[in-house]
Formats: sequence, C-alpha cells, structure tokens
Amino acid sequence: MMQRLIIATKNECKINEIKRFFEEVAINGERPLFNILSLGDVGVDLDLEAVEDGATFEENATKKAIAVWKALDDENCIVLADDSGLEIDALGGEPGVDSANFMGRETPYQLRFDKILDDMRNVPYDKRNARFVCVMAVVIKSEVSTFKATIEGKIVDKPTGCSGFGYDPIFCVPEFNCTSAELSLTQKNKISHRGKALQMVVEHLK
Ligand code: IMP
Repeated sequence: MMQRLIIATKNECKINEIKRFFEEVAINGERPLFNILSLGDVGVDLDLEAVEDGATFEENATKKAIAVWKALDDENCIVLADDSGLEIDALGGEPGVDSANFMGRETPYQLRFDKILDDMRNVPYDKRNARFVCVMAVVIKSEVSTFKATIEGKIVDKPTGCSGFGYDPIFCVPEFNCTSAELSLTQKNKISHRGKALQMVVEHLK
C-alpha cells in the first residue's frame, strides 16, 4: 500500500502545485511514492491560521505540520506543511512572513498590488529586487525536518498574467522574462521556491 502523505494546508492553489509536482516526479521516471491527500480528504478540520503566529517561515511551517500530525494520530502518515511569502527589498522585506494577511486576509490581491506598486512608484528597476520564500516542514514518525528555498525576481510596475495565485502577477521571473502568473504550473514548479523546496523534500523522503 502506498504511504499516505497529508498536505497541511487549506490553500487550494498550494495543494494544486504540490500535487502536480508529485505527479510530475512520477512522470520523470520515478514511481509515485505517495498517496497525496488534503486535509479534507482525511477529515481534519483545524484552524491552521491560528497556529501561524511564529516570527519565521520555519517556525510557522513546523507549527502547522505538527498540529496536523497530532490531529491525525497515525504514526505512519507523513505530513507536509508549506509556509511561504514574498519579500520585497524596497519595502524592508514586506509583506514577508505575513504575506497572506498583508492589508487583511480577505483583501483582494488587486488592492494589495495597487498599494505595493504605488509605494514603489519611484523605485528604479535595479532596486526592485524581491524573492518568494518557501519553507516545507515534513513530519515522519514525529521527527520534523525543514527545507527552505527561494526564487529571486523583480517587482514589475503593472500586474500581468492570470495563472498561479497570490502575488504571482507582480513578480517577474528574470529567467523567463515574464511574471510567475504567466507561467504554466509545470514551468512554475521547475523554478519556484515551492518547487525547489519540494525537490529537497523528495530527496529527504527517498
Ligand atoms: P501562508 O499560507 O501563511 O504560507 O501564506 C502564503 C502567502 O504567501 C500566500 O497566501 C500568498 O499571498 C503568498 N505566496 C506564497 N507562495 C506564493 C506563490 O507561489 N505565488 C504567489 N504568492 C505566494
């Protein structure tokens, strides 16, 4: 029987990216190692937002992973939690660890873009550096390990593209010369903070 791997998030976009990543690991010659399940699939209904009160991505990813692992009460499950965000140098690292709550959790991203781009209207191209950060926490047999990855890019001056989620439309990936909202899921997973962290997770799980 395939081992169960539970994704400790309620963010459907993250779940999509993570599931696609594991599907494509299989396509690239390796076997599908895990039965990838969401919290809904295993009937866990936790308020994960309440758990995310740490000061770092590592802390929050670890807290979410442990909370779900405890709720599952099954030694043999692997739990994977993602904590991520966007750091913009010209804004002193904002929105950072609190990216999901920046200007309020329910605030439409278009309004957040308006604010960020307005705050940066006088910032020249060479000072528009930013990065997406992702920390994955994995729990296996009560042992937690974390894996951190980033992707460096630039904040554009006009939101572009409609794929992806969150801040993707304002983040330009220099390698592709487009925003991450203009990339396919497969392309994004190959180069993104999340894709790179997942690559480390897979090495760890092997
Ligand atoms: P978390 O659920 O606390 O980890 O919040 C992550 C937040 O960071 C998301 O809600 C997005 O606002 C932002 N974020 C993380 N990863 C990405 C990404 O791949 N693209 C765009 N925004 C992201």
